[in-house]
Amino acid sequence: MNAFVKIKKYKAIKRKIVCLTAYSRPIGKILDKYCDIILVGDSVATAFYGMNNTKEIDLNTMINHGKSVGKSVKKGILVFDMPFNTYKNIKDAKKNVKKVLKKTKCHAVKLESNGKNFNILNNLVKSGVKVMGHIGYTPQYKKKFSPQGLKKNEMKKLINEAKKIEQAGAFAIVLECVNFKLAKKITESINIPTIGIGSSHHCDGQILVLDDLLGLSGFYPKFVKKYLNLEKLISSAVKKFKKDIVRKKFPNSSNTY
Ligand code: KIV
Repeated sequence: MNAFVKIKKYKAIKRKIVCLTAYSRPIGKILDKYCDIILVGDSVATAFYGMNNTKEIDLNTMINHGKSVGKSVKKGILVFDMPFNTYKNIKDAKKNVKKVLKKTKCHAVKLESNGKNFNILNNLVKSGVKVMGHIGYTPQYKKKFSPQGLKKNEMKKLINEAKKIEQAGAFAIVLECVNFKLAKKITESINIPTIGIGSSHHCDGQILVLDDLLGLSGFYPKFVKKYLNLEKLISSAVKKFKKDIVRKKFPNSSNTY
């Protein structure tokens, strides 16, 4: 079954959709065994490059990560996160998305909603592109982190936004840091899957930034579950390596030509 049809079916039968971010080929290979959707997220800007925010990453750098992950993903839906300013109008969006799909093996793109760009999304869909929406806390458009949909007027606005994104033809929609009651309401009021990050178990699927769950990013807000302390594991391996070198235990005769 086509992977896009599959995730729609998962929503209907209430099988949760599993998603994570990947920035490289080896990680893509591992995630492809378990994930329905793999996102080449613009979070690479902060998690990998140490930039101040996701707005600093450019399209070509993202494309290189897309190419790398694309080499190993064979099963899951590979989504490319369009960087800030690359889809500000229909012309730019079409040109840049075309470049992404030509240069990488990504199957779809993700656009953050600014509450107005439904027409851009719709034009991409009409030209045959699979598009994922993103509402709630949208780092490309919001200055400061804050949970979304806690106030009554925000609730109405977010439900409307989700409906408009569905009408524009998106195949799924990320809800980032959306209040749990509202996430439930949105999930029940649209027919496309909702993928939550910090938006409760009510969403049809879940996504996290892989570096956060591996304990590598140093960023652990309450919506992150840290499954591993990779920073500690790497540190311990490097410490052993140093010890071996200083004590002249590595390389030994078996490592030498
Ligand atoms: O860039 C990213 O990793 C994302 C996820 C947090 C959804 O947009």
